[in-house]
Amino acid sequence: MIEVRGLTKYYGNVRAVDDISFTVEKGEILGFLGPNAAGKTTIMRIITGYMPASTGSVRVAGFDVFSNDLEVKKRIGYLPENPPLYMDMQVIEFLRFAAAIKGVNRKSIESEVKRVADKLSVSTVLFKSISTLSKGYKQRVGFAQAILNDPPVLLLDEPTIGLDPKQIIEVRELIKSISHDHTVILSTHILPEVRMTCNRVIIINEGKLVAVDTPENLTARLKGSESIHLEVEGPVDDIMNMLKQTPNVTAVSVAPTKKANVSGYIVETDVGSDVRKDLSHSIVTKGWGLLEMKTESLSLEDIFLKLMTKEEVN
Ligand SMILES: Nc1ncnc2c1ncn2[C@@H]1O[C@H](COP(=O)(O)OP(=O)(O)OP(=O)(O)O)[C@@H](O)[C@H]1O
Ligand SMILES: [Mg+2]
Repeated sequence: MIEVRGLTKYYGNVRAVDDISFTVEKGEILGFLGPNAAGKTTIMRIITGYMPASTGSVRVAGFDVFSNDLEVKKRIGYLPENPPLYMDMQVIEFLRFAAAIKGVNRKSIESEVKRVADKLSVSTVLFKSISTLSKGYKQRVGFAQAILNDPPVLLLDEPTIGLDPKQIIEVRELIKSISHDHTVILSTHILPEVRMTCNRVIIINEGKLVAVDTPENLTARLKGSESIHLEVEGPVDDIMNMLKQTPNVTAVSVAPTKKANVSGYIVETDVGSDVRKDLSHSIVTKGWGLLEMKTESLSLEDIFLKLMTKEEVN
């Protein structure tokens, strides 16, 4: 449904987006995850046709954004970072106006405005001036505007920002519920949000794509690099030597315990390997006492940080 190839964007000398490629299938919810200034908003603006890329191509439903932006705009509902709401309009006036711009036919405007207002629970504020709404309600009006005319593709730039916890849950449910027959890209800094709503995650840092995968696979991919905590009874030097010589072990550190002749060890391993069997086998064969072995699994937060750090080292 969405195909991004080799996308690069310069603002003057600043390379905000650096050779990014990905595709999004129909019905997928793709999460853009990245710190401030990663390039999330820039990529969204380019996909919606509001801003040209420096190089690269974007296709939406088979239409090229650069040569056929009208066809693309017809198919995309966009909730910008700061929704451009006309502050002195009433909510209903704004939604009618936006519906007309989006090509909703005259006869259907009222029913379409009612549909989106119900969906975003803004029916009670329809006759209020936008300038008097709370931040969360403004966000909802922006969201309601995005789904007018039921576009097949939705781009949501930080859709839950400014909402209270109850509204956040409602909006996440809403995103999930419309995803069946829509394709959604949403951006966020919030890791749990990605886990809760997205089928796939793109991690972006400093304009570069750091990883693309399902939230589950991202966790699984780095599972082997979890650290293993051991408590072993036996001679520290010999145990350290054995640990270091075990294949796939990248680092070992030791800490004394309160028990005599027992030390704690932290073993770091390569990505994708599981050395627990090797370690327990060696320890038992040498006649040492294996008192404890536990792995510390990585949360999405840890993975995010690890990927970020890796990117910085490169
Ligand atoms: N109109 C602009 N002119 C010049 N530089 C810009 C412009 N818009 C964005 N940038 C720069 O491009 C980079 C990416 O910005 P972008 O807004 O895409 O990041 P983001 O991932 O959306 O960040 P945030 O999470 O803070 O919204 C930043 O370094 C930013 O300063
Ligand atoms: Mg942004």
